[in-house]
Amino acid sequence: MYRIGEVYQKIYNEFLKNNFDSARIETEVIITKTLGIDKSVIYSFPEKKLSVKQIEKILKNFSLRIAHFPMEYIFCEKEFFGLKFYVDHNVLIPRPETELLVEEALSLIERNGITSFADIGTGSGNIVISILKNIKTKLKEVFATDLYENVLKVAIKNAKNYGLLEKIKFILTDKLKYFIDNKIKLELIISNPPYVTLKEYKNLQKEIYYEPSYALVTLDGLKFYRYFSANGKKVVKEGGYLILEINPNLFTKICDLFTNESYRIYKIIYDYQKLPRGIVIEVLK
Ligand SMILES: C[S@@+](CC[C@H](N)C(=O)[O-])C[C@H]1O[C@@H](n2cnc3c(N)ncnc32)[C@H](O)[C@@H]1O
Repeated sequence: MYRIGEVYQKIYNEFLKNNFDSARIETEVIITKTLGIDKSVIYSFPEKKLSVKQIEKILKNFSLRIAHFPMEYIFCEKEFFGLKFYVDHNVLIPRPETELLVEEALSLIERNGITSFADIGTGSGNIVISILKNIKTKLKEVFATDLYENVLKVAIKNAKNYGLLEKIKFILTDKLKYFIDNKIKLELIISNPPYVTLKEYKNLQKEIYYEPSYALVTLDGLKFYRYFSANGKKVVKEGGYLILEINPNLFTKICDLFTNESYRIYKIIYDYQKLPRGIVIEVLK
């Protein structure tokens, strides 16, 4: 029979040996989330006995984590914009930088009286759901799209959890194809498309390789921006906007794609490291 304090020590030592940056936090999270307890239990009651079943569960989750499987996928949960989202290996784990795009969308929608928008490549649905949970004005038409059915299923599950299923039209489509085919015009498109280049993809931290590559990589990181530049005006009304998350390393090249008679760079969104992480593009008359 193991005690919680001993289990803590063994797991902590393994994380340390394997050079995990935050061995203490990793250990706490594995134990507390697996058992559904507060971390104070570990430190206040180290003699607390654990059942064989509890130990097995902790070790299973520990073995995933030590292999760098993301904690968010182990416990199927990620917090984004103050909301909890279900996540699994089908979808990208939402990143804090993307919250800056949501903030921008909220203020743009409210300032301009926007009533229709689409979240392209919705993933877990984190962007569209965060907007709908926080918007103060009335929206008429909201779409969330993705190329993959397994991804849309996750977004739909999250929308259901937040009681938003009736408010969002989930569409399985490639980029803007559905809107172009059906001649649907919107006031705003928001998207965090795959933007890591193949070259960059070879040098990332181990956890990222457990995330779906279709959510992250394109050959030169520009594929979606070229497409949005060529097709955005077909879908976004004149005077409307595109809010796009971008790869800071491709900032100039992406701006060049939207500096012409059809578009104007309206705003640059800088992230917490002061890197250009997003752009707001205005569709010109
Ligand atoms: C970087 S992830 C963004 C996920 C989520 N919106 C977020 O911000 O965390 C890119 C998303 O685009 C989707 N995607 C990839 N290719 C696509 C395509 N051709 N058309 C539509 N969505 C696509 C992926 O499945 C993935 O969910």
